[in-house]
Amino acid sequence: EEQQSQSRFDALIGDDSRIEPRDWMPEPYRKTLTRQISQHAHSEIIGMQPEANWITRAPSLKRKSILMAKVQDEAGHGLYLYSAAETLGTERDELNDQLLTGRAKYSSIFNYTARNWADMGAIGWLVDGAAIANQVPLCRASYGPYGRAMVRVCKEESFHQRQGFEILLSLSRGTEKQKQMAQDAINRFYEPSLMMFGPPDDQSPNSAQSMAWKIKRFSNDELRQRFVGMIAEQVKVLGLTLPDENLHFDEEKKQWIHKDLNWDEFMNVIKGNGPANAQRLERRREAHREGAWVREAATAYAAKQEQSEVA
Ligand code: 3HC
Repeated sequence: EEQQSQSRFDALIGDDSRIEPRDWMPEPYRKTLTRQISQHAHSEIIGMQPEANWITRAPSLKRKSILMAKVQDEAGHGLYLYSAAETLGTERDELNDQLLTGRAKYSSIFNYTARNWADMGAIGWLVDGAAIANQVPLCRASYGPYGRAMVRVCKEESFHQRQGFEILLSLSRGTEKQKQMAQDAINRFYEPSLMMFGPPDDQSPNSAQSMAWKIKRFSNDELRQRFVGMIAEQVKVLGLTLPDENLHFDEEKKQWIHKDLNWDEFMNVIKGNGPANAQRLERRREAHREGAWVREAATAYAAKQEQSEVA
């Protein structure tokens, strides 16, 4: 029986078809998807914090409303992804508890602080740009609910990237000081955004299996190079530079060669010792505590509804 299910699963993966929640799947497939989708969801929710700090400081009403829309989008992306993760059998309360107790990972990038308004531009252009480069292939992930959630996320993410680029463009055309602010923000976010794609392929324990199961369609390094190639062109339009003077396209290897990245820093950040890890988790715990009354009210209301239906 199990043998039959395994070969049916292998055939679906082999045909590039979708695995749906009710389909039989190997437990390690379920486990790695729950791991990745929940971390992705946590990243969206924690990723709201750096920008939330700048909603009250936005330089104009237009910028404020755009930033609010972006942060709301990210909350929604988190909810789509928790829903997708739940179809694999783990309740979102459990997933949330993993985050609140520091047991769950979320994207390293959000452990860096946003120090001034130009950072909103760099986060939009670089962080959301990296997120798009990583998320577009995930639209074709073999697990149905995940791939479908990504289609919607990617549509909204491209607006996030454009608004970030536009912030940097207006700064780069402003005063000398504004231009320097934009350059400084790019200098600070360049390497951390490249590290979002994960460790180098030869230090990526999950990649081989994830690619065999067609969850991951391209390797960490492949997507990183693709992203670098994109921003290397876009930064010229800004009249600014990437902090990577040896960045070049290797015609033989047909790939972009960027500077070595600081993987010790990366491992340190994902262990919880980044510049902002503690404050991000503390803020998340505080928001969870402050939201308890909403959960209680919703539960009480649902119980009353049930009673009135029964009566
Ligand atoms: N931040 C934190 N942890 C990371 C990481 C990062 N940037 N990159 C890798 N890791 C962790 C992995 O989770 C894994 O640890 P685990 O086994 O305990 O989960 C370990 O480092 C080794 O990495 P691998 O390459 O073996 O792991 P994966 O095959 O899972 O690849 C990944 C890592 C490419 C990030 C993959 O998990 C992925 O594509 N995840 C979905 C995309 C995602 O999470 N994007 C978040 C971007 S931010 C965002 O979306 C918000 C945006 O709207 C601003």
